[in-house]
Amino acid sequence: MNERTIFTDPHLAQFYELAPHDRTDHTFCKDLASDADSVLDLGCGTGELTVQLAKGRHVVGLDPAAAMLEIARSRPGGDQVTWVEGDARHFELGETFDLICLTGHSFQFFLTEEDQRLALSKIAMHLKPTGQFVFDTRNPNFPGRKTRSKSETLKRTQHEELGEIESWNISHYDEPTQVLSFTNAYKDLESGQVFSAPSQIKYTAKERLDQLLQEAGLRVETWLGEWTGEPFHAASREIIPIGRKA
Ligand SMILES: C[S@@+](CC[C@H](N)C(=O)[O-])C[C@H]1O[C@@H](n2cnc3c(N)ncnc32)[C@H](O)[C@@H]1O
Repeated sequence: MNERTIFTDPHLAQFYELAPHDRTDHTFCKDLASDADSVLDLGCGTGELTVQLAKGRHVVGLDPAAAMLEIARSRPGGDQVTWVEGDARHFELGETFDLICLTGHSFQFFLTEEDQRLALSKIAMHLKPTGQFVFDTRNPNFPGRKTRSKSETLKRTQHEELGEIESWNISHYDEPTQVLSFTNAYKDLESGQVFSAPSQIKYTAKERLDQLLQEAGLRVETWLGEWTGEPFHAASREIIPIGRKA
């Protein structure tokens, strides 16, 4: 990760937890981990879930963005986790896990099928024979427009240190590649300073994802459409495969 992104820029990483997150994924993953002795949290970001999983078990959190890991390390409980600065497409930890999770749509940061294949093969390589994997990716067939303007997304939020800030998001969806290019921006209303950086995420249809998972030697046991446990259907918001090694 050499380019400046919303995760690698420390000024932007500090705003990450301001974004509206549906943290039912945390509840779900904690339940799924209840019998696990070891968990690998790929694309762990600021480690909000990772530290919760570490209570009483061996947990590794991996992310390529040093700025996000910096926040993760300094969190209460951060010393209970083994943090690894690494890329989910290219890593080898020399150990296997009972559970591997990628939450917060980290999977969508693999922008090509080749990247997705690499990451899925690394998941298969790091799973114990009975281990489980789970991740989320937004369903491209969820109704509604993905392209958004500043005026559609503009809002005000309270930041712990900066006070009131304005945030917005400008996005453009490219249908042929299924890649959404977006810019997240945050304005410190007191100083007038704007922090922004561009980023991209990829959408993948469930049928294609299923093929990629099979090619990587992974077998899906359950497809959910929401972290609340609703089964997947064609117009679900999310695609959440839960499975094991084939
Ligand atoms: C939206 S955040 C999700 C963070 C965390 N899992 C959560 O749920 O809050 C996406 C994360 O994916 C990470 N990421 C991007 N490219 C990655 C890659 N190639 N390998 C692993 N993680 C990656 C980013 O650095 C960022 O921390």
